[in-house]
Amino acid sequence: MNVLVIGSGGREHALCWKITQSKDLNKLYCAPGNGGISDVAECHDINATDVSGLIDFSRNMKIDLVVVGPENPLAAGIVDAFQVKGVPIFGPVARGAAIEASKIFSKELMKESSVPTAPFQVFDDYGKALGHLEARQVPFVIKADGLCAGKGAYVIKDMAEARSVLKELMVSKIYGDAGRKVVIEDFLPGIEASYLAFADGETILPMPASQDHKPLLDDDLGPNTGGMGAYTPIPFINDDLDREIRDTIMLRTIAAMRQRGIPYKGVLYGGLMFSGGKPYVIEFNARFGDPETQPIIFKMKGDLLPVLVACVEGKLNNIKELEWKDGVSVCVVLASGGYPENPDKGKAIRGLHRLAGRDDVMVFHAGTKKVNNQYITSGGRVLGVTAIGPTYENAIKKAYDAVAMIEFEGMFYRKDIGKKALMMR
Ligand code: AMP
Ligand code: GLY
Repeated sequence: MNVLVIGSGGREHALCWKITQSKDLNKLYCAPGNGGISDVAECHDINATDVSGLIDFSRNMKIDLVVVGPENPLAAGIVDAFQVKGVPIFGPVARGAAIEASKIFSKELMKESSVPTAPFQVFDDYGKALGHLEARQVPFVIKADGLCAGKGAYVIKDMAEARSVLKELMVSKIYGDAGRKVVIEDFLPGIEASYLAFADGETILPMPASQDHKPLLDDDLGPNTGGMGAYTPIPFINDDLDREIRDTIMLRTIAAMRQRGIPYKGVLYGGLMFSGGKPYVIEFNARFGDPETQPIIFKMKGDLLPVLVACVEGKLNNIKELEWKDGVSVCVVLASGGYPENPDKGKAIRGLHRLAGRDDVMVFHAGTKKVNNQYITSGGRVLGVTAIGPTYENAIKKAYDAVAMIEFEGMFYRKDIGKKALMMR
C-alpha cells in the first residue's frame, strides 16, 4: 500500500515509524512532516489544511490510505472531501469530528445518551452567562464551544477571573467565533486519563489508557500546553474499570453518533476524570492524542496498518484484539525556550546519534527540521523521548537517562513525568 500521513508532530512521527514496519506498506509519504519523519517517509511541503492540494497529491501518488493526525483538517471536513473522491482515509467525517470541535455538540450528545459528564449549561448571550456566573460558587469551569488549540477551557477559582475570562471569550472574542458560545460546567476533582480507541462506526478496539501532563511545569504548575509528557498504562485501571469505560462511555458514544446518522470512524479519544472512583468525560477528541500516541504506539505489538484499514472499511470485528508489549512506556517532551508563548527556533540539536538503534528507547521528533544532515529546532515541542521498561521506575529512569544524552540551547522539560503513577499504587 501507498500511505500518506498528514501532520507534523510527534504523534505523526510515531504513526509513521510504526507504519514503516508494516508488511503491507509499499511507500510512505507525509505532509508536511518534520526532521525525524523525513528519515522514514518521503515528506512533501503541503499544509495539513490544504485539502485540495492533498487530494491532488494523493491521486498523483496513487495513495491507498490517508491517515489524518491533527484536529483542524478533520473539523474542516477533510474526510468528507476525500470520500467524495473515493480515496480511503482514516478519521471521522466533519459531523463526527464535531465531538471535539464543538463542546456544545459533545456535551449534548453525552447528556442525551447518558454518558457520564459534568453537569453543564450552554450560553450564547453574554448577559445571561454573566448572570449565571454571579449566582454560582467557585470552583467551576468555563469552556469556549469551538477549537482553541487546546486553550479554550478555564478552571475558575475566583469570581474576578470568571468575569474576565467570560468577557475575553464572548466580548473581546480572543478566539473569534470559537468563543461566541460557552459551556459552563461543574468542576470535577480527581485523576485524569486519556482513553483512546480505534473505531469503525460500529465497534471499537481500545488502546491502553494513558496519562498526559498538560501544565508546563513540575507538579502541574504553570500554564497549560499541548502536553509535556505521557505514560501508559495507568496503574489503577483494572479490567473491570476498563470494561466500564468501554461500555458506558466509548461504545455508548459511538452508538449515539450512529443514531444521528454519523458513522464514527478513526480514533475516539476520551479525556476522562476519575472522580469518586467513577469515570466522567471531560472532553472528547476526534484523533490520536499528542503526546499520548508516542508511548502507546511504542508499546504496540503487531501491525498498525491493517487496524487502520479495518476502521475505514468497517471491519474492526475481524481483528480480535490488539496486542501490547508488557511493561510501561513513558514519553518525556523536550521543549524549546519560550514555549508555549514564544518558542525559540533554529537551535542545533546534539546527541541524537547516541540513542540510535536502541529498541527500548525511541526519540520521536515534533518541532524539528533537517538541514544539511543536522537536526534543528523549529517549534515549541521539539522531541518526545520515549522508553519502555518492565516497571514504572525502570521506564521513567530509562527515559530520563536518554534525555540526558540530548541537548539544544534553551531546552527544558518536566522532571516528574510518570510520578503520579508511582504515587497511585
Ligand atoms: P479540556 O480542554 O476540556 O480538556 O480542559 C483542559 C483541562 O481543564 C483538563 O485537562 C482538566 O484538567 C481541566 N478541566 C476541564 N474540565 C474540567 C472539569 N469539569 N472538572 C475539572 N477539571 C476540568
Ligand atoms: N494530549 C492532549 C491532546 O492530544 O489533545
